[in-house]
Amino acid sequence: MSKKIAIVGAGWMAAYHVAGFRGAGAEVVAIVDKSPAAAKTASQKYSVDKTFTEPKELFAAIKDLDAVSIITPNAFHHPLVMEALAAGKHVFCEKPPALNAADVTQMVDAAKKAGKILMFNFNNRARPESYAMRKYFESGAVGRVNSAQAAWIRRNGIPGFGGWFTTKKLSGGGPLIDLLHMVDLALHFMGYPEPAYVLGQTFSDHIDDPQFKGPWGIPDVKDGITDVEAAAHAFVTFKTGQVLTLRNSWAEMNEREVVSVVFQGQKAGGKVQRLFRVDGIDATSIDSCELYTQENGCPVNRTIITEPDETMGRTRSAKNFALVLEDKEAPLNVPSEAVKLMKIIDGVYASAKSGKPIEL
Ligand SMILES: NC(=O)c1ccc[n+]([C@@H]2O[C@H](COP(=O)([O-])OP(=O)(O)OC[C@H]3O[C@@H](n4cnc5c(N)ncnc54)[C@H](O)[C@@H]3O)[C@@H](O)[C@H]2O)c1
Repeated sequence: MSKKIAIVGAGWMAAYHVAGFRGAGAEVVAIVDKSPAAAKTASQKYSVDKTFTEPKELFAAIKDLDAVSIITPNAFHHPLVMEALAAGKHVFCEKPPALNAADVTQMVDAAKKAGKILMFNFNNRARPESYAMRKYFESGAVGRVNSAQAAWIRRNGIPGFGGWFTTKKLSGGGPLIDLLHMVDLALHFMGYPEPAYVLGQTFSDHIDDPQFKGPWGIPDVKDGITDVEAAAHAFVTFKTGQVLTLRNSWAEMNEREVVSVVFQGQKAGGKVQRLFRVDGIDATSIDSCELYTQENGCPVNRTIITEPDETMGRTRSAKNFALVLEDKEAPLNVPSEAVKLMKIIDGVYASAKSGKPIEL
């Protein structure tokens, strides 16, 4: 029998989750949103009959529900994941996993105790470029990754002013926590080592300047709060001796928007990158995947050809969750990785505040 999944949070990201779950043969049985209007609009858009404003109504009404997909603003990930696990449901949760590592640890422990699957939407691991690059790691062609540089640098990409994205209490922070995808992908390529120390700095230049707003039409909230960083830079060391440099921004004087992981392995280096013809607009993306090797005495740069995927793995990532429920695929991420990732994010904020390196 097909798995039954409900969507909690009917924003624009729901489209990818619905497509991915259906692509795996799962059934999307309900939409939950605290705004009845948003739930209704989404139920019509995705042809889903049932809508609710609270998860508890969902759990009472659909007893054979298998899983929920949480796509709400970041501050609600932790309470909603805990509630779903307590109700005995598997959970797929949008990134970032929560506001901090302590909350993620509670979520991971609760999933273990409940014996339920908990996965996060680190969709860049589901990009065609990442599937291709993994084959080179698995074949031994890259060797250990000594060092990596993770970047999601936007030049003019503030997601509106005064809404949940720019309110630290609701988002957990600015681009460091919002654009954590490339840090996750770099850690994934590095084998998710245990972090040791982090030294970082954040900047809030341009964070209230309308010239630096992104192109997605996210409305500003009059008298709302904007108290997050505009850019973050950090250096992370690991207990294994590996190192990671990270650079994330919503607003910074860059040449253009760049989304990339570059790495240096013991046998080969490489890069997974997304550039844009129009910064921030997925439909104009230019994705690439490259490997740098030494062959027959020559430095060789290989271009790995992959299928285009404008969704940046978002649909494929949701499909992976639904296939994991059916035991038909291995999970693209495991909960303990989310704890390490959030420890690094917490560490960058702590280091920026104290001006000192932080032991993780
Ligand atoms: N993986 C990606 O590429 C990607 C891209 C964008 C956003 N996201 C993540 O998706 C999440 C949602 O972002 P968005 O841009 O879709 O937000 P959004 O503001 O467009 O939509 C959020 C929806 O959640 C509803 N909501 C808020 N609190 C709720 C609650 N407690 N219970 C039920 N519904 C609630 C709102 O009414 C709204 O309809 C965020 O965590 C964000 O970081 C991920």
